[in-house]
Amino acid sequence: MNLFVSILIVFIVITNLKCLTTYRRYELPTGVKNSKDYMNYAFDLTKTGSKVYCLWTGPLPVVGVTHPETFKQLIGQEHRKARGHNEPYTLIQEWIGEGLLVSGDRKWERSRKLLTPAFHFNILTGYIDVMNTVSDTFQKEHPLEVGQSDRKRRLDFLDILLTATDEHGRGLDREEIQSEVDTFTFEGHDTTGSALAWSIYALGQNPKIQAKVYEDVTAVLGDKNHVDATDLHDFKYLPKYIKEVMRYYSPVPLIARKSAKTLVIDGYEVPPGTRVDINIYATHHNPAIWDTPEMFDPERFDADNKDGNDVFGFIPFSAGNRNCIGQVFALNEIKICLAKFVKRDSLS
Ligand code: HEM
Repeated sequence: MNLFVSILIVFIVITNLKCLTTYRRYELPTGVKNSKDYMNYAFDLTKTGSKVYCLWTGPLPVVGVTHPETFKQLIGQEHRKARGHNEPYTLIQEWIGEGLLVSGDRKWERSRKLLTPAFHFNILTGYIDVMNTVSDTFQKEHPLEVGQSDRKRRLDFLDILLTATDEHGRGLDREEIQSEVDTFTFEGHDTTGSALAWSIYALGQNPKIQAKVYEDVTAVLGDKNHVDATDLHDFKYLPKYIKEVMRYYSPVPLIARKSAKTLVIDGYEVPPGTRVDINIYATHHNPAIWDTPEMFDPERFDADNKDGNDVFGFIPFSAGNRNCIGQVFALNEIKICLAKFVKRDSLS
């Protein structure tokens, strides 16, 4: 073994020594070989009451949080999402650039401030017609034609990206605009597409629930096929159904952090540079937070039901400063698409 490799191993062992001893009791069982095993392992640990876990990829520990308390402790100490050496995100960075999702510290803070107006209620309302048209095309009702009325001038994401300026009057440069467009394109289609696919799958799995979704949609829309802004607020059961899909299937099941400083989670010291996973799927199925978590039941999101009321226990869009900037946009899209789907088709 050459000298460099030996030095590297000694370095890794020394920097992780504390974690090695702290987490020994959570050592990875030998059966964990792939991402499915990993999720099952984390999930099984929640049943023992554990709020945090540690497993090993070779000599490197991966810590994970599965409970609102430990999630809160993590984001309270590392709210800006450290970057630079966070493998899952540096891999995506090659593809979508250093936009909102992967950037950290001041760069993220400035961009988030500049881009927040792009998701203002008025801007999102401007997308409702487009969402209706695209949804109709998806159901092959109408060919996608952008008519004169669709072309009418309205403020959109690109306008904000091109015109937003900070307190020094500086806007985003070309590279920043490119990264943000790529980030929205990635973050906006894969996630929402997966949520919609699970929503349709769950309708087929639960015929009685499907009937309730249909009832709610027809009560609000009547004979009309166009979903407008007021309809979005009038749906009662549909939003609960979508929330349950987001909990049960968790379209984004896992996100990760790496901090440059020592973190303390559930009393354990996590050394700088350790990858810490926020296990959204395991949190959403944690029996300490949810009654009968393996039951698919939209009623758990009734206002008078305690389930799902903890903002840090129901985290399909994450929570805190680095929550999903596109969550209302996504929910509008899913509501419109699903409402039109159940009006036209039924699944068994
Ligand atoms: C069902 C759909 C969606 C889900 C489940 C979802 C979920 C998430 C989650 C969990 C995060 C936190 C990521 C992390 O901390 O590493 C996030 C961040 C983000 N999402 Fe979404 N997302 C959805 C739709 C969208 C849409 C439609 C857009 C844009 C149009 C979008 C843009 C973003 C951006 C830019 C971030 C980074 C925010 C920041 O760090 O400041 N997402 N999303």
